[in-house]
Amino acid sequence: MASSRVPVQLLKSINGLNSSANAFRPTFIAAYHIQSAPTGRRNFSFTPSHSAVTEFFPQKETKSIRRTPPAWPHPVYTYEQMESVVVSHRDTKNASDKVALLAVKVLRWSLDLVTGYKHEKAAALNEKDPEAARKKYAMNEEKYLMRNVFLESVAGVPGMVAGMLRHLHSMRRMQRDNGWIESLLEESYNERMHLLTFLKMKQPGWFMRLVVLGAQGIWCNALFFAYLISPRTVHRFVGYLEEEAVITYTRQIADIDAGRLPKWEKLAIPQIAIDYWKMPEGQRSMRDLLLYIRADESKHREVNHTFGNLDQKDDPNPYVSEYRDLNKPHPTKDLVHQKPTGWEREDII
Ligand SMILES: [Fe+2]
Ligand SMILES: [Fe+2]
Repeated sequence: MASSRVPVQLLKSINGLNSSANAFRPTFIAAYHIQSAPTGRRNFSFTPSHSAVTEFFPQKETKSIRRTPPAWPHPVYTYEQMESVVVSHRDTKNASDKVALLAVKVLRWSLDLVTGYKHEKAAALNEKDPEAARKKYAMNEEKYLMRNVFLESVAGVPGMVAGMLRHLHSMRRMQRDNGWIESLLEESYNERMHLLTFLKMKQPGWFMRLVVLGAQGIWCNALFFAYLISPRTVHRFVGYLEEEAVITYTRQIADIDAGRLPKWEKLAIPQIAIDYWKMPEGQRSMRDLLLYIRADESKHREVNHTFGNLDQKDDPNPYVSEYRDLNKPHPTKDLVHQKPTGWEREDII
């Protein structure tokens, strides 16, 4: 029983890869958003659920060191800025964009195939028997955490691979990088902080660890070669993936608001998250945390779509540059000027 549930859960954990332009999304969301019913079955890949935060990797106690703060301080987001993050999709404009979007779709299709998930079955069952569909397909706190852990474990790879390749390129060619490396490494660092935060809430079992291990091996190598061939396409591809990440977290926030995730309403947020995002007192709920993470994903979406619009060799990184006209909106590290589909080159370079 358990072994047949694992692939389905894994697939659900990845269904954020569903394209926003995908025609079958509405019915799928319907099946997906049904209120969770307790099945009494243990989640295969995680330790049993409880609302207390687990001390998965406690801070090292040493004789001399008081604490080790995050390497990259996180920009401060206001509540209004985070609430104004929207789901969006950038239309494809050229062959490279189409390849990138196709790659996201192929990824989703392969995951469906590997995990044996049949979306049509979920939607059809929901129409015939919503109660059975709820039992079989509805998301709950554990499934969401499982999905978040998997997705964040792969999300931290592209920035690191791209940053490493640009770093090596700069040294090999004896040329400046113009500031890209910093943003790329910071992005992967930020994704890893997402992962560490979710790991503080749920400890993965051996199956999930195995999946993460296998996925990282394939994913890291695939990105390495893809970035050597066409960095622009990879940035666009990551932009499309991040569009899906925003959708994923928007759904979770909506499910909390609809009262479908009661365990998250009283869940304590890990200290690592409070410190990293500098979460103010009184705004430290799971919903607040997801607002921060969604805002981060929206920034990755914008940064990668913008990078995909630039000359990969010569253009400076607009996110770390200083501008001549300070009154004109320009890319920033925080959420002051949000451009979900990225900045166009002629507006910023
Ligand atoms: Fe993330
Ligand atoms: Fe992201």
